[in-house]
Amino acid sequence: MAIVAPSFLASNFLQLQSEVDMVNESKAAWLHLDVMDGRFVPNISFGLPVIEAIRKATDKICDVHLMIEEPGKYAEAFKLAGADQLTVHIEACPHLHRNIEQIKALGMKAGIAVNPHTPIDFLQDIIEDVDLVNLMTVNPGFGGQKFIEHSLVKIRQLRRMIDEKGLNVEIEIDGGVNLSNAAQIIEAGATVLVAGSSVFGAQDPIAAIATLHAL
Ligand code: DX5
Ligand code: ZN
Repeated sequence: MAIVAPSFLASNFLQLQSEVDMVNESKAAWLHLDVMDGRFVPNISFGLPVIEAIRKATDKICDVHLMIEEPGKYAEAFKLAGADQLTVHIEACPHLHRNIEQIKALGMKAGIAVNPHTPIDFLQDIIEDVDLVNLMTVNPGFGGQKFIEHSLVKIRQLRRMIDEKGLNVEIEIDGGVNLSNAAQIIEAGATVLVAGSSVFGAQDPIAAIATLHAL
C-alpha cells in the first residue's frame, strides 16, 4: 500500500476548503505542501498563512516541502503553522546535519529532498538521521512536468542504501507521478507518491488517489 500525498500546488486555491475536504475523505495519508521562495527555485508558491489555514482543516499529516534557501531560519515558523514533517533540499543546506537536528528538536519529522542531478551517494552520511527522502523526479519549481526516466535507477539505489543499513526511511517520489508510471515507481522501491496534477486534474480525484494507494 502506497502512501499518497496530494500536492496542493495543483489545487484550486479559490476552493481550498473543498479541496482539503476531498483529500480528507480520500485514502491519502499526507497533504504535500510546496513552499517556493523565488530564489532556490524559479517560482514563488505559497507560505505560512496558507499552511496554517490548511492545517486547521485536516487531521492528516502535513508534509511540507521547502524549496527555499536558508530553511533553518523558518523551521520554527513552519512548526507553529502546523507542519508535521519538514523537508529541506540538500542543495540549499551547507550545514544539513544542523538543519535536520533542528527540525527534529522542534518535534517534526525531518526529510531531505534531492534534485534530479544530485547523486544518491551524497545521502550516505546523513540517511540514518532522517525520516524521509524526497526524490525529485522533475526539476523543482513547477507542477505538471514530465517524470525524468533516469529517476527509476536512483529509486533503486536509494532503496538498496536504506535496506543495507536496515533503516525505516520513506522514499517519497515527487514530480510527474501519474496512474501510468506509479506502479513501476513503487516496484523500484518507493513508499510515498506525491501527486499534483494527476490527482487535482483528474475527473474523479478520490478514485485517482484510491488507485495510487492500492499499489
Ligand atoms: C515541484 C513540486 C511538486 C509538484 C508536483 O517542484 O515539488 O510537489 O507539485 O506536481 P506534479 O505531480 O503535477 O508533477
Ligand atoms: Zn514537492
